[in-house]
Amino acid sequence: MKLQIFNSYELMSDAAADLIIEIVTNKPDAVLCFATGNTPVRTYQLLIEKAVSQHTDFTKCFCIGLDEWLGVAEDISGSCHYILQNQIFRPLGITKNQVHLFNGTAEDPENECEKMNKIIESKAGIDCMVVGIGINGHIGLNEPGVDVSRKAHIATLHETTILSGQNYFKEPTIINKGITLGMAQIMQARTLLLLASGKNKAAILQQATRGSISNDVPASFIQQHENALILVDKEAAATLS
Ligand code: F6R
Repeated sequence: MKLQIFNSYELMSDAAADLIIEIVTNKPDAVLCFATGNTPVRTYQLLIEKAVSQHTDFTKCFCIGLDEWLGVAEDISGSCHYILQNQIFRPLGITKNQVHLFNGTAEDPENECEKMNKIIESKAGIDCMVVGIGINGHIGLNEPGVDVSRKAHIATLHETTILSGQNYFKEPTIINKGITLGMAQIMQARTLLLLASGKNKAAILQQATRGSISNDVPASFIQQHENALILVDKEAAATLS
């Protein structure tokens, strides 16, 4: 694990976008996985700008979903599906057959997990994952106490995730479960890019990167990842020892 501190959110986002461009340039058929949430929004905007100016070819890459709210349909603007489609896939010209996301309204969510696990296996793993960190230490929807040996699974959401999750929806929305890639898959990503911004992430970033490795803070396992890059702004790094 390597950690880099940037003077601003803008510089952090710029570095993250550069890294994604570099990975796709070196491996045009890369398998990519993107988190939603507030943190990577600027990274994705810069990624699109750089892809245009540098003529980066995304036509051969494949994108895997990280997580989704269970019971939330893809046309709801707070769904991960909707956000990824609008913030990344459509602007980059990534077509539906280059993408496999969790269906939050599938009749059989366990089967969604199985399908996702098989697709990741058939693609021989994920080349680059872009993830955020929740104030409770989650990555994706791997909530505190998660069994870190698990692959895709249904997660019962922690109360802070339920609360912060409301920020992504235009109207109050009932969310109490999610569907997520598991820590086993996150740890196997060939490049794991974790972004953290703002002072509300400082305490958990300290625990995740300097504290003991424990499933109380799922993101702490990133310390064991050989090719994890943690990019943070100086506010998020404020309490790093
Ligand atoms: C979203 C996701 C979550 C977020 C995390 C941080 O797809 O997987 O784990 O990355 O909750 O969210 P923000 O960036 O909104 O603080």
